[in-house]
Amino acid sequence: MRIVKKTGRSSFSDPSIDKNLKSKDIKLSKIYNNLNNLNKTVLTCSRQSLSRIIHYNNIYKKILNKPGVIMEFGVEYGSTLSLLIKLRGMYEPYNYSRKIIGFDTFSGFGNDLTQYEKKLGWKKNDYSTYKNYEKFLDELLLLEEKNSVLSHIKKFELIKGNASTTVKKYLKKNQQTLISMAIFDMDLYKPTKKVLMEIKKRLFKGSILVFDEVNHPDFMGETTALLETMNLGKLKLRSSLGETFASYVILD
Ligand SMILES: C[S@@+](CC[C@H](N)C(=O)[O-])C[C@H]1O[C@@H](n2cnc3c(N)ncnc32)[C@H](O)[C@@H]1O
Repeated sequence: MRIVKKTGRSSFSDPSIDKNLKSKDIKLSKIYNNLNNLNKTVLTCSRQSLSRIIHYNNIYKKILNKPGVIMEFGVEYGSTLSLLIKLRGMYEPYNYSRKIIGFDTFSGFGNDLTQYEKKLGWKKNDYSTYKNYEKFLDELLLLEEKNSVLSHIKKFELIKGNASTTVKKYLKKNQQTLISMAIFDMDLYKPTKKVLMEIKKRLFKGSILVFDEVNHPDFMGETTALLETMNLGKLKLRSSLGETFASYVILD
C-alpha cells in the first residue's frame, strides 16, 4: 500500500487532502486517549486502507478449505502480514498448518533493478525500513499471535534477504511446503520473476496468486514477470472494488 513514495514522488496523494488530514491528526491526537480501540481505528482509517483490508479479507476466505502456507514477498513494515495473522485468528484459529511466511531484505531494493526501473527513478534501498526492524516486527507479530488460540505454536516466519535466493533455500529446507496463497509486492521485475519460477512447483489448482502492482506504469516489471512466467490468457485475473492495481487469480 503506498501513498507517498520514499523517493519523494507522490503520484497518488493529493497534497490538499494530506494537509487536511494532518490538521485532523493533530486534533485527534488531543482526544486520542479518550477513544476506545474501535473509535481510534475507524476514525483514523482511510477509505483506501479499508478497501485494502476488505480486499485481503475476501481473498483469505477463498483459501479456507485449502491446504498450504501463505507467503508474502515484499513485507516492508509488515502491515499485510499483521492483517493476515488477524484474519487467520478470526477464520481458522486452530489451523496451525497455515504458516505465514514473509520475505524481505528489510533494507529495501537491492542491486537487482533493471535499467528501465532505474530510469523510472527507483534506486537501491528505496522502501528500506530501519536497522533491525525485522526483530521488532517479529515481536509485534508474536504479540498478535498471542491474541489467538494455540499461541504456544509460532505460525509465522520472517526471512531476511533477497527473496530470489532465500525462497529457494526455504523450499529446500521445508520440502513439505504447498502454497495456498502467494503475495507479490516487491515491485521489481527480477525478484518477482525469479520467485514466481521458484514457487511454481508448489502451487496447485486453487492456489491464489496476489499481485500488488499489475498493470501499474511505475512498476511494470511486476506485469512483465507475470507475462513471462504464466499463461496470461488462461488466468482469470480479478481485482477488488476500491483497489486500483491490486489483483489476484485463483489457479485452475
Ligand atoms: C512496497 S513494499 C511492500 C509493502 C508490504 N507488502 C505492505 O503490505 O505493506 C516493497 C518491499 O519489497 C522488498 N523487496 C524488493 N526487492 C526485494 C528482494 N529482491 N527480495 C526481498 N524483498 C524485496 C522491499 O524491501 C520492500 O520492503
